[in-house]
Amino acid sequence: MVVGKIVIAIVAIVAAMVAISAAIVLSLISVYIPDQSTSVTAYQKCLTVASKFATTVTGPVSNITTTTGVTVTCSQLGSTSCPGSMVNGICTWQRKLAVTCIDGTTVRIRVQSNGLPGRCMDVPSTTSISEQNVDFAVNFNPTVSVNSPIFSPTTQTQLDAISCNITSQSSAPSWSNLVTYSTTSLDTLVGVSIDNVAILNVNSANMVDPFYPSGSYSAESVDSCLAHPQTSGVYHYHAASGCSVSPPTGNISLCSTSNGCSTNVAGWITSTWPSSAKKLTVIGIAKDGHVIYGPYLNGGKLVTTGIDICNGMFYDSSGDYGYFATTKYPYITGCFGPSNYPSVGPSCTTNGQQSYTMSSYAAARYTG
Ligand SMILES: *[C@@H]1O[C@H](CO)[C@@H](O)[C@H](O)[C@H]1NC(C)=O
Ligand SMILES: *[C@@H]1O[C@H](CO)[C@@H](O)[C@H](O)[C@H]1NC(C)=O
Ligand SMILES: *[C@@H]1O[C@H](CO)[C@@H](O)[C@H](O)[C@H]1NC(C)=O
Repeated sequence: MVVGKIVIAIVAIVAAMVAISAAIVLSLISVYIPDQSTSVTAYQKCLTVASKFATTVTGPVSNITTTTGVTVTCSQLGSTSCPGSMVNGICTWQRKLAVTCIDGTTVRIRVQSNGLPGRCMDVPSTTSISEQNVDFAVNFNPTVSVNSPIFSPTTQTQLDAISCNITSQSSAPSWSNLVTYSTTSLDTLVGVSIDNVAILNVNSANMVDPFYPSGSYSAESVDSCLAHPQTSGVYHYHAASGCSVSPPTGNISLCSTSNGCSTNVAGWITSTWPSSAKKLTVIGIAKDGHVIYGPYLNGGKLVTTGIDICNGMFYDSSGDYGYFATTKYPYITGCFGPSNYPSVGPSCTTNGQQSYTMSSYAAARYTG
């Protein structure tokens, strides 16, 4: 009996030591992230995410552009740039947004957006901004696995083909079951921000980082909300902006004339981030159904590691995967993940990661 108890005790001690060493090894190859999970149903989780959007109408609607939106006025836009009507030098437009959760065996989310913000924009007087019709439905927060990455690049050439590629997000993975109803082309659109501004693929038309391009390309001009219009009038973000969480009132300026922004766009992301949002904060939804979060986790930790090449992270013990805004390329999301965690960085930026590390939740599920 006594011998039996001793044997059991020894077995228990050895098992505990094995578990402790495994935890130590795991902690060396992964990043500890405080658990961000909540125990609610997928539908409730979807409703919570949808409630963060500044919606203007209850959806789904048959056509977002024909709904009555919320009127926005701005006195700094010329007639070429004004996306609405000009009266006495004041541009007036309507912001229109519906975000709807559809309950079922698989919860879906429908996003209908006219792409116009609820604040001023500062753009060159020769550029135009126009109302869009972005409309898609997708499985909400689809289950994905660290053991089945979509992308597994190991060399810089393989990584570049995914990251430094403006069309790499033109379609979403099949598990997202993306259905588009839009008239606006969604090829480079990767998601919609909570303030109704489009989020486009990180790359410039030259397939490089728009803010810190490699080679001889110059940085693109954005306003102090870090947004600008592209050639067909889609005003959009390539990086997280405090303006999405806390829209400014009145005129805004260009990044190039804002002290701090012109010399350090990356630093501007966090220096202008509202302190009330230095926690897990929904800033948008991606076209693959995953939630896009701001640059901070609950507890105030800035996200710098734990992400894959797409800026995706397994961020809680429930296995949820979402995209996190960062101050390094790809800033919001560079691809629809999950991917592996290679020890190379992309060549199209001078502000990229050089290697990637799993979060503790990714490592806990990793069997490779
Ligand atoms: C939505 O309404 C706009 C404005 O009337 C129209 O131009 C567009 O074709 C409509 N789109 C769809 C998908 O019905
Ligand atoms: C905003 O900008 C416009 C155009 O430059 C100017 O006329 C107007 O006075 C500005 N408004 C404020 C409050 O600064
Ligand atoms: C960019 O991504 C698309 C979609 O995955 C792919 O078909 C294409 O070959 C990629 N382009 C390059 C230059 O690798």
